[in-house]
Amino acid sequence: MTRKILVTSALPYANGAIHLGHLVEYIQTDIWVRFQKMSGNECWYVCADDTHGTPVMLRAEKDGLAPEELIGRVHGEHLRDFSGFHVAFDNFYSTHSVETRECVEEIYARLDAAGAIEKRDVEQYYDPVKRMFLPDRFIKGECPKCGTKDQYGDNCESCGAAYTPNELKNPYSAVSGAKPELRTSEHYFFKLGACSDFLKEWTLSAPKEGQGNPDAEGGVEKRRLQVEAANKMREWLDSLEDWDISRDAPYFGFEIPGAPGKYFYVWLDAPIGYMGSFKNLCARVGIDFDDYWGPDSEAELYHFIGKDILYFHALFWPAVLDRARFRTPSGICAHGFLTIDGAKMSKSRGTFITAESYLDLGLDPEWLRYYYAAKLNGTMGDIDLNLEDFVARVNSDLIGKYVNIASRCAGFIDKKFGGRLTRTDAGWLNEFRAAAPRIAAAYEQREFGRALRDVMALSDVANVFVNDRKPWELSKRSGNEAELHAVCSEAIEAFRLLTLYLKPVLPKLAEAVESFLEVAPLTWGDAGVPLPEGHAVGVYAHLMKRVDPARVAALVEANRESLAPAEATARAGEKISIDDFMKVDLRVARIVDAAHVEGAEKLIRLVLDIGETKPRQVFAGIKSAYDPAQLVGRMTAMVANLAPRKMKFGVSEGMVLAAASGKGETPGIFLLSPDGGARPGMRIR
Ligand code: MSP
Ligand code: ZN
Repeated sequence: MTRKILVTSALPYANGAIHLGHLVEYIQTDIWVRFQKMSGNECWYVCADDTHGTPVMLRAEKDGLAPEELIGRVHGEHLRDFSGFHVAFDNFYSTHSVETRECVEEIYARLDAAGAIEKRDVEQYYDPVKRMFLPDRFIKGECPKCGTKDQYGDNCESCGAAYTPNELKNPYSAVSGAKPELRTSEHYFFKLGACSDFLKEWTLSAPKEGQGNPDAEGGVEKRRLQVEAANKMREWLDSLEDWDISRDAPYFGFEIPGAPGKYFYVWLDAPIGYMGSFKNLCARVGIDFDDYWGPDSEAELYHFIGKDILYFHALFWPAVLDRARFRTPSGICAHGFLTIDGAKMSKSRGTFITAESYLDLGLDPEWLRYYYAAKLNGTMGDIDLNLEDFVARVNSDLIGKYVNIASRCAGFIDKKFGGRLTRTDAGWLNEFRAAAPRIAAAYEQREFGRALRDVMALSDVANVFVNDRKPWELSKRSGNEAELHAVCSEAIEAFRLLTLYLKPVLPKLAEAVESFLEVAPLTWGDAGVPLPEGHAVGVYAHLMKRVDPARVAALVEANRESLAPAEATARAGEKISIDDFMKVDLRVARIVDAAHVEGAEKLIRLVLDIGETKPRQVFAGIKSAYDPAQLVGRMTAMVANLAPRKMKFGVSEGMVLAAASGKGETPGIFLLSPDGGARPGMRIR
């Protein structure tokens, strides 16, 4: 039975570059879609740029561009990066489009008519210099719990506390630096609280009759949400609040009809962008929009997303769709986050790797597709890109096992047998054909790692066959032609089947193999149809290079950014007042003691006299540049009113000042010292 399936990936924000973290999702979705298409299903894959909101507006302003110009440029870059990694959307559109606006307005009108919209006054921080209301992320201040400075309006990076911006102490606008004022404005709310019963049912149920996978067996894949996701929802469902869906001008987005100066919040229009993109595709290729989105749709609808945006997709989105009388998703497919070498991607470590830099350095996108696929499964667990393992895994699996089969046999077919195969229906290949439904089931369940382990185990079988029969020896002695012909033909048939099973992951490699084998594009059904006796193949050309570890090292180097200059630029142009400066209590300090810290790579423990009764203990990251012995007795400068910080080795009660090198400079750390005559405890201003 042909299934009708609409698939989406989350819409990337239009103010940043695609990086290897994003690619986990787009590669995962693309593999699943390619598998569906190869299986003969009608499957459409749409996406778009998420273009609206304050960050895009401010970023455009900073770059001296109109928002439309910025999003136009980024759209081109995103499309280039996605196609560079063979992510084959049927449509990659924009939320800033006529179609998305139409859908947003229609949904809003229906929600309003259903009584699901309410207006309420909201008190919120306003930047009097920039003349705009400030989103939480653009308000900074001191943490109300631990007092750490420069924390965002929603949570503290130092102690982890969560709070509202109104609780911050000494708040300031991250846009202008001004002190924000509380102002009242009327906001539009979607009455999410009233959807509690619907959502309790929805999050635990199977897709509606006709909207699920008819071939699915067992419970798990029949549910709309993964088990872990459903559990998360249960927590959230206990405290559902109405959802603020409007923002005041200035805002880059769609104005609310009949409400001048009020705009739809970006998270309202973003998922509607899935519809907008699909609507645009419908007009282009002649699909009926309602077949997929109407309340009685008999199509499947899946959203692939990261676990960080589950809330929006599993609560707001189905509730909005239901109240507006559209169908709801058949399933939300959430994945975990990418770490690189076991840690969060980091600009200073060079692991915040852009898609563009990977391609520019000539790394093969299919290496990454393979590696991600090998690690992906149907859960929300994080996945790690271990760079050493990446090199080893790709070289051993793809080059050492898979490509090796063809490269050892193809030449003989060409040179000795005029490019023609003999029979390929030998018994040992039955196992290869029998694997087709098993591997298909693994792809269907997003258990890509399992599918690839199966394929590699079969590759081992094929390699053992070739090793045992040794075509290179058969070819040296005459009288073995028939056996040589059979061995090579059968190995090539094994290779064809493995290529078919790998095709969702390695589409370009599969294309090269199809052209070598002179066969039509492989589909899942071809597993049961052996290459016929006498089939002519083309000339074999080498299929894939080995990963060179030096190139991976170069990739990390190319993405390494010293944090200091980045922070300096972020702050450049942003003036502070003398009062701000005076908040920093800078003192002359004498180093009375200095010592290495056991187990710390970068730290020296300093004991500093600043004229107080008890000296201060400070841990300073200067070990690479100083020997403790040479520090004792010298003078330096310290920040004396920094909140004490509890570290693994003890409490640090301040910070010493040093100059440190930036990107591209000779590395170094240079401790500041006052001119002769300064005494411990003197204020620096
Ligand atoms: N614009 C929103 C999505 C709106 S969908 C209606 C957004 N954009 S994003 O650019 O920040 O992220 C796009 C997708 O990439 C999200 O699903 C997100 O989870 C995923 N990833 C971004 N960084 C990631 C990792 N480091 N690892 C895995 N996926 C990550 O969210
Ligand atoms: Zn705190």
